[in-house]
Amino acid sequence: MTDRYTNSRRLYERATKSIAAGVNSGIRKMEQPVPLYFQYGNGPSVWDVDGNEYIDFQIGQGALLYGHAPAGMADAIASQARLGTHWAAQSELEIEVAERLQAMIPGAELVRFNNSATEVVLSALRLARGHTGRALILKFEGAYHGWADEGLVGFCPPPDKWGDDESPTHLHPSQGVIPEVLDTFVVCRWNDPDHLRRQVEKYKGQIAAIIFEPIMCNTCCMEPVTGMIETIRELCDREGMLMIADETITGFRFGPGGAQKHFGFVPDLTILGKAIGGGVPFAALVGKQSAMKKIIDGTVVHAGTLNGNPLCLAASRWCLDHLLSLGDSHPETVIKLGQKLMNGLRALADQNGIPLRPQGPGSVFHAVMLKPGCAEGPVRDYRDYVRRQDAPRWAHLRRCLLEDGVRAIERGLWFVSLAHREADVDEALEKAALSFARHAKEWAAS
Ligand SMILES: Cc1ncc(COP(=O)(O)O)c(C=O)c1O
Repeated sequence: MTDRYTNSRRLYERATKSIAAGVNSGIRKMEQPVPLYFQYGNGPSVWDVDGNEYIDFQIGQGALLYGHAPAGMADAIASQARLGTHWAAQSELEIEVAERLQAMIPGAELVRFNNSATEVVLSALRLARGHTGRALILKFEGAYHGWADEGLVGFCPPPDKWGDDESPTHLHPSQGVIPEVLDTFVVCRWNDPDHLRRQVEKYKGQIAAIIFEPIMCNTCCMEPVTGMIETIRELCDREGMLMIADETITGFRFGPGGAQKHFGFVPDLTILGKAIGGGVPFAALVGKQSAMKKIIDGTVVHAGTLNGNPLCLAASRWCLDHLLSLGDSHPETVIKLGQKLMNGLRALADQNGIPLRPQGPGSVFHAVMLKPGCAEGPVRDYRDYVRRQDAPRWAHLRRCLLEDGVRAIERGLWFVSLAHREADVDEALEKAALSFARHAKEWAAS
């Protein structure tokens, strides 16, 4: 049999001699059978170095909301590059982007820029501690808030170490973390407002902020149960804690106002990443004037050589203008398209006797692959997910999909972009029909 990935294998082999472990982000090693190398992308599609074409639902881990290489963005970046790539100083461009964010995002009274959402999370947590004079941060089990010490606490604890349901442990998946950092976190289960109330009561007067993803996209795309977000807002108001919405993924994917506008809440601080730059290294901390006070007076330090970099700003201005130009059609179109894809995948799963249960709002969703004998119904929290997700079986199906030209994220997440059209979803489902049939046969034989 011919190998579809000859050139990727060759490059990966070469990369391992100059790049630690051959990749520049640990998670990329997960790609099977080999981390792929790409040469170009266009709209919803991307081509690897072996000439394989994929309809891309990995889409830059969600950053490419506008698809691969939109011409308008390429022009905006090229024009700016001719004027200057970096000033480490002020430009009118940064005010223009900040003003657009103010107009779009309910919680954006003031803005600060960084180059990755990981940095913005660190800024937000520092600001919350500075603002309240309290040390603890409450976060939800399974939630990913970037790869730094603080963002990964309680991200993926193994079942034998995750503690009882009432007091989840604050484990960290990495070695080398400052041990004291772990003690500054209270970890709660997602989607249990009463449990959250009890934990806030237990640590009364000590918690600076609650940080959360409005939809826990990184772990099974778990939407909030009724009352979850309202409870967070109510507790933050009552106890003087800051409400920090991590909209790195949900921001812009749910319209120009993000998930906060979609669900109808106003956080004190918001983290924006990914689609704010459409694939360039750009991210923002936005928040209420009152919550930004310590950055304004300089008592909380926020800095960065490349903050407000003009190339990133030019790209971001293009992205935000593009979103605004879509009017009311966004997010409806992208959500409907995603739901069509979810329904199509579910139908193929049923036809082939595969226990695949896509869940999520559509523009982003997770392919839950149920373990044999597991209960049906939406997955609601991290523990439920670990108990029910058949990771090896999903990995096998994902690899079949890749071979047929459909690219989803290794962990099971799918993103739909504004560049995907109905015809792309139809074509993806036609290809997936082959993958599902092959997977069912091979899995049964294994
Ligand atoms: C919710 C959330 N927060 C923060 C981050 C970190 O973003 P970045 O990789 O840009 O640092 C991510 C990245 O996937 C994310 O999904």
